[in-house]
Amino acid sequence: MKKILIIGANGQLGADINTSLSINKCITLTPNHEELDITNFERVKEYILQNKPEIIINTAAYHHIDKCEEFPLLATLINNNAPTFISKLCKEINCKLIHISTDYVFDGAKEKPYVESDLPNPLNVYGKSKFAGENEILKANNNALIIRVSALYGVNPCRAKNGLNFIQFMLKLASERDELTVVGDEYVSPTATFNIANILPEIIEKDLSGIVHLTSEGACSWYEFAKEIMDYTHTNVKIKEVTSSHFPAKTPRPKYSVLENQSLKNNGIQSMPHWRDALHIYLNKIKK
Ligand SMILES: NC(=O)c1ccc[n+]([C@@H]2O[C@H](COP(=O)([O-])OP(=O)(O)OC[C@H]3O[C@@H](n4cnc5c(N)ncnc54)[C@H](OP(=O)(O)O)[C@@H]3O)[C@@H](O)[C@H]2O)c1
Repeated sequence: MKKILIIGANGQLGADINTSLSINKCITLTPNHEELDITNFERVKEYILQNKPEIIINTAAYHHIDKCEEFPLLATLINNNAPTFISKLCKEINCKLIHISTDYVFDGAKEKPYVESDLPNPLNVYGKSKFAGENEILKANNNALIIRVSALYGVNPCRAKNGLNFIQFMLKLASERDELTVVGDEYVSPTATFNIANILPEIIEKDLSGIVHLTSEGACSWYEFAKEIMDYTHTNVKIKEVTSSHFPAKTPRPKYSVLENQSLKNNGIQSMPHWRDALHIYLNKIKK
């Protein structure tokens, strides 16, 4: 039985990871933010040395995009300095570190799915702090694993983004309005957190290190995603497709951040579902 510390266990992704690992007979340690703040290095060291996990999965992040622009030092502290400290400690005590990163390390200029060997070029403070974190974590500890995920949605709310994920937000708007306006020129691989969580035991078993992309198969624009949500739930609402210039954003974002799970496939790990199939399963889950 493996003893695994999940940092951010009450978050959108962390909660599903906890469920999946518990089903897979792991002992999980799940302190909340207050009990284990990763910016308190002394406390982190004390907690880890006392509890002796064999694996640490870090899902904690400062990832509200606009707030990262406003508070870049905090973004650096949480997304880079703190996980780097954990990575060094893991190296010292021979503990595996699995750290969650993001598709926002890329600038979108490739306009084809990004593989792990593609060179990142983040456009905003969030992406820059996560990319710096990836580099420092691996520099400190080449046995660490960085998992890049994209456009997450889960049954549990995203704590950093005011609770509602894109699907819930669209369904809420559709219940209040006759027409929705959705961006059609930003492409992602929307990914259900339970799919990431379910595949993690196999990734742990294979003891991968370096960088791995882990997203749904296929890609869509936010407009296509919204349309599928409404079609599948038989929600009667018009959807108007617009370009991103319709919603001027304070912070630049990549227009194309689709990831290809190349390393996963090369390592013979079960494939992720297509985004459309995963969405249908999620919609059935939340209906219950
Ligand atoms: N959501 C997305 O669409 C998306 C896309 C790409 C990548 N990612 C990455 O995926 C990971 C998980 O995202 P998520 O959607 O599950 O986020 P989430 O729901 O906001 O969960 C993050 C968790 O981290 C905790 N946390 C934040 N700061 C902390 C600190 N200083 N010390 C300890 N815990 C702290 C939060 O606790 P409190 O809420 O109590 O502060 C929360 O439990 C992040 O690394 C993010 O960068 C997310």
